[in-house]
Amino acid sequence: MTVTSLGTELPVAPRGLEGVAVSTTSVSDVDGTAGFYHYRGTDPTSFVRTGSFEDAWFLLLNGALPSAEDREAFRAAVFDAMRMPPVLRAALPSLAALGPAGSIDVLRSAVSAAGVAIGCRPWTEQDETTTRQQIERLAALTPVLTAALFRLARGLAIVEPRQDLGFAANYLYMVNGVVPSREQVHALETYLILAADHGFCNSTFAERVIASSGADVGAALSGAIGALSGPLHGGAIDRVPSMLAAIGDASSVERWMKDRLDRGERLMGFGHAVYRTLDPRNTVLRELARSINDPRVALALEVERVGVQLLNDRKADKHREANIELYAGVVLDYAGVPEELFACTFPVARMAGWTANLLEQIADNRIFRPSARYVTGR
Ligand code: ACO
Repeated sequence: MTVTSLGTELPVAPRGLEGVAVSTTSVSDVDGTAGFYHYRGTDPTSFVRTGSFEDAWFLLLNGALPSAEDREAFRAAVFDAMRMPPVLRAALPSLAALGPAGSIDVLRSAVSAAGVAIGCRPWTEQDETTTRQQIERLAALTPVLTAALFRLARGLAIVEPRQDLGFAANYLYMVNGVVPSREQVHALETYLILAADHGFCNSTFAERVIASSGADVGAALSGAIGALSGPLHGGAIDRVPSMLAAIGDASSVERWMKDRLDRGERLMGFGHAVYRTLDPRNTVLRELARSINDPRVALALEVERVGVQLLNDRKADKHREANIELYAGVVLDYAGVPEELFACTFPVARMAGWTANLLEQIADNRIFRPSARYVTGR
C-alpha cells in the first residue's frame, strides 16, 4: 500500500515495523519460526556451556572469538575501563538519592552522566578510536555504576572491582561485597551470555536511531537503557517475580491468569514480537532453574503450561510461548543478584550487543528519518 504525503507517493510500513527489515547487520539474527538466534554465527545457547561473558562480548565486538593473548588483553582492558572518573563518583550519592535502590531509571541517568564525565561528544566530530574507547568504557562502567548506586541507596560503602575476578564474578562481588561461589558465577554468566544480544530488538533499534543523528555514544547507550526498561521489553523481568508472588501457589494459576486476560492485561514473561515458537533462551534458563532448589520453579513451570494454553486458546492466529523473562528471576536470585537489581542486570548484559551495534551503525551511517501518514486531528 502507498499513501500520498504532500504530493509524494510513499510505501506504508506495518504498525511497529513488524516483519520489515530497516537495516543490514552482521551482529546477530533471530529466526522466530525455527526458535533460533545467533550472534556472529555462534549459538549462545550452546556457548553458555563453555564460554565466558568476556569472550561473548569480544566475539560481538570483533566478529571472532579471542585467542589466548586477545583474551588476556581484553580482560585487562575491560578491568581498566571499570575505573570511575572522580567527577562521576562524586555525583553518585545525588544520583542514588533520585530513586529507589536498584532503579533502572537511575542507572539510565548515571550512564548518561558517565558519558558527559568521560567527555563524549558527537561521534561525527571525533576520531574513531576515541569513540570506540568511549563505547567500551561506558559498557564496562555499567555494572560498576549498577552496584555502586545500589549500595549507596542502601547506605553501604561502594565495593571496588577486583582484578583477579572475571566480569560476572566482579559484578556479584561489587553488589554484595562477597566473592560468589562457582555455581553462582555460572548461573549469572549463563544469563549474561544469553542476554548479550538479540537481533534488531526495540532497544537496539532505539540506540541506532539516536546514534544515526551523530549524537554522542552516551546519549545512544542511555537511550537504549530507556527503551529496554519498558514493561513490554526488558522491564518484564521485574514483573515476573511479582506475578509469581501474586499467584501464590499452583492451585491459583489458572484462575489468576484467566482473570488477568479477561481484564485485557498482559501475562508478563509470555509472548515475543518475533518468536512464534519456543524462545531458546527460555529453554536454557528453564533447565538451569530446574536444577535449583527453589519452590518458585514448580510454580513457574505450571504458570508456563497454563499461560501458553490460555494465550493460544484465546488467539490462534499467532502462536505465543514463554520468553526469556519467565525463569530469569529465579536464576538471577540463585546467582545472588538482589531482586531490586534484576532490571539493571539486563543492560549489564545487553551493553555487549549494543556496543557492537553502535560500532556497526557508525561504520556505515545514514540518518534514520522516516515519514508518517498525516491524518487530520482525531
Ligand atoms: N499477554 C497477553 N496477550 C498477549 C501477550 C501476553 N504476554 N503477548 C501477546 N499478546 C497478544 C497481543 O496483545 C496481541 O493481541 P492484539 O492483536 O489484540 O493486540 C496478540 O497477542 C498478538 O501479539 P504478538 O504480535 O504476538 O505480539 P506483539 O509483537 O504485539 O507483542 C510483546 C510482543 C510486547 C513481547 C508481547 O508479547 C508482550 O507484551 N508480552 C508481555 C511482556 C513481556 O514478557 N515482554 C518481554 C519480551 S522479551 C524481551 O523483550 C527481552
